[in-house]
Amino acid sequence: MTMNRTLVLLKPDAVARGLVGEILGRFERRQITPVALELRTLDRATAELHYAEHVGKSFYEPTIAFMTGGPLVAAVLEGPDGTWEIVRAMMGATNSAAAAPGTIRGDFATLMNRNLIHGSDSAESAAREIAVFFPSLV
Ligand code: PPS
Repeated sequence: MTMNRTLVLLKPDAVARGLVGEILGRFERRQITPVALELRTLDRATAELHYAEHVGKSFYEPTIAFMTGGPLVAAVLEGPDGTWEIVRAMMGATNSAAAAPGTIRGDFATLMNRNLIHGSDSAESAAREIAVFFPSLV
């Protein structure tokens, strides 16, 4: 089996609410496991790099403020082929209000801008984002 990696951020709301173990545990129980894991507070430059495609959108500035406003957990998760897609399915819809029960957002969140977790949305995004957060892994 080819192993495959994706980037996950447990956002500041997940850390503040004490949901880090619960969320990582869901991935671990599915045999999607961390190969890099760090609690860190993002600086603005890193947040801007991460959200570069959303510059100018109405939610851009609030999102940067939220993501830099407290510690988050950055992780590279490893699993089977297409791990990024499995992780996204387990996260649930971006708008937590619409997220299906059984997903992370569907079980623990209700708001669009407090949606607990980010996961790379393609293999290409995963490669780019892993390089931003964990350059030593590349
Ligand atoms: S979109 O609509 O295609 O631009 O959205 P998407 O590619 O899913 O990523 C949007 C990221 O911004 C966060 N965010 C919001 N998106 C849309 N609307 C509002 N109001 C909003 N507030 C925050 C959203 O969670 C996505 O970030 P990540 O880190 O990927 O979760």
